[in-house]
Amino acid sequence: MEQYAIKGGNPLVGEVEIGGAKNAALGLLAAAIMTDETVTIDNMPDVRDTNVLLQAMESIGTTVNRVDRHKVEITGATINDVVIEDDFIKKIRASYYLLGALLGKYKKAQVVLPGGCNIGSRPIDQHIKGFKALGADVKIAHGMIVAEAEKLVGSHIYLDVVSVGATINIMMAAVMAEGRTILENAAKEPHVVDVANFLNSMGADIKGAGTDVIRIKGVQKLHKSEYAVIPDQIEAGTFMMAAAATKGDVLIKNVIPKHLESISAKLIEIGCEIEESDDAVRVVASRPLSHTHIKTLPYPGFPTDMQPQIAVTLALSSGTSIVTESIFENRFKYVDELTKMGANIKVEGNSAIIDGVSKYTGANISAPDLRAGAALVIAGLAADGFTTVDDIVYIERGYEDFDAKLRKLGAQIEKVTSDKELQKFKLKVG
Ligand code: EPZ
Repeated sequence: MEQYAIKGGNPLVGEVEIGGAKNAALGLLAAAIMTDETVTIDNMPDVRDTNVLLQAMESIGTTVNRVDRHKVEITGATINDVVIEDDFIKKIRASYYLLGALLGKYKKAQVVLPGGCNIGSRPIDQHIKGFKALGADVKIAHGMIVAEAEKLVGSHIYLDVVSVGATINIMMAAVMAEGRTILENAAKEPHVVDVANFLNSMGADIKGAGTDVIRIKGVQKLHKSEYAVIPDQIEAGTFMMAAAATKGDVLIKNVIPKHLESISAKLIEIGCEIEESDDAVRVVASRPLSHTHIKTLPYPGFPTDMQPQIAVTLALSSGTSIVTESIFENRFKYVDELTKMGANIKVEGNSAIIDGVSKYTGANISAPDLRAGAALVIAGLAADGFTTVDDIVYIERGYEDFDAKLRKLGAQIEKVTSDKELQKFKLKVG
């Protein structure tokens, strides 16, 4: 048993440093194997998902040298296999990036069907459509996706849905295809731009990342690069919500404020003060918060990965808020847990109707997935009394030292592994 034990009720106050973006890092790591030269990636978050991906890369012969906790050197020259089938890789979604990277470089790849958080049906038809358009033969057999091509040739591809994964994957496969690829209705998330910038730093010719039309001119090979991952928009947003929900005052450092605009705008709307500087945002929640409506949308809209965290904040704000989830259909699984803490939320279809309450009370709850897990920790920090959050393995997929960073802000939270440790924590915090 591993859980977070929390004694809530303290406003979070102080400064927190945000790490590298998990979802950018996953794309970058896969892209790094596309050259035989050694690539150095800095500002890598040390979280479960990136570590699992590195393990999968090593399983096919990639040389991975961890220079320090956040810096890694990757050499793709030693790759001796294009089949990724280890059990551990099934646990993460980003395993599919190895398809695009291996297919682009070696013109063949075989990867187990991806897993990841259970937040709804997560098809990969758009990835496959893109690979096929570039000339690959793609089939699914025995739980594996098998992609192969004699050669890849640039193409005009229109995505039917805006997909971060498909955009990054097709971009990687197209980078070394012959001729030009135009990818329309592309995702515009900061991590899409980061992967494009990284590939360009390796010699690729990608234009338009960050808009909905990406143009790629194929090159014959890629070369070494030194690169640092962008700050994590969602980790930053999570701490912004933690500040708001606990009525705190937190300076969130090492961020790109532009990436946080949709989150800042909503916090201002409900009554927080936001101060922005070049690479930091300060969130001050000194007044009672009020309701608003949210609809999750692809970037620059409000991120689905911030939906549970803002819902936890709105459930403590006066009035009725409506949160509509338009990206994944199964992202309200935290509502039952939050109800145990006194929240008043009704889910109807893809909307949550939230009637604000004045406080939460501590309870024993479980993290249903990564972001919902982080949101429930925030609820515990805002609640009166003790809360335990189980299944924190989900949270550790995407947040580095989550509990330690929160403790630095004055939170009473500890990771405990037994009843004895839990009792000890309770005695300590009183
Ligand atoms: C990425 O998932 C992120 N994961 C998710 O973060 C994030 O929630 C999501 O983008 C949306 O921003 C990684 O980057 C590893 P999509 P991804 O393809 O790429 C549909 C987190 O908490 N779709 O943009 O899998 C799909 O069903 C995680 O860090 C298709 O229909 O998401 C969804 O409705 C969770 N066909 C929508 O598109 C496809 O081929 C957007 O999904 C692909 C997607």
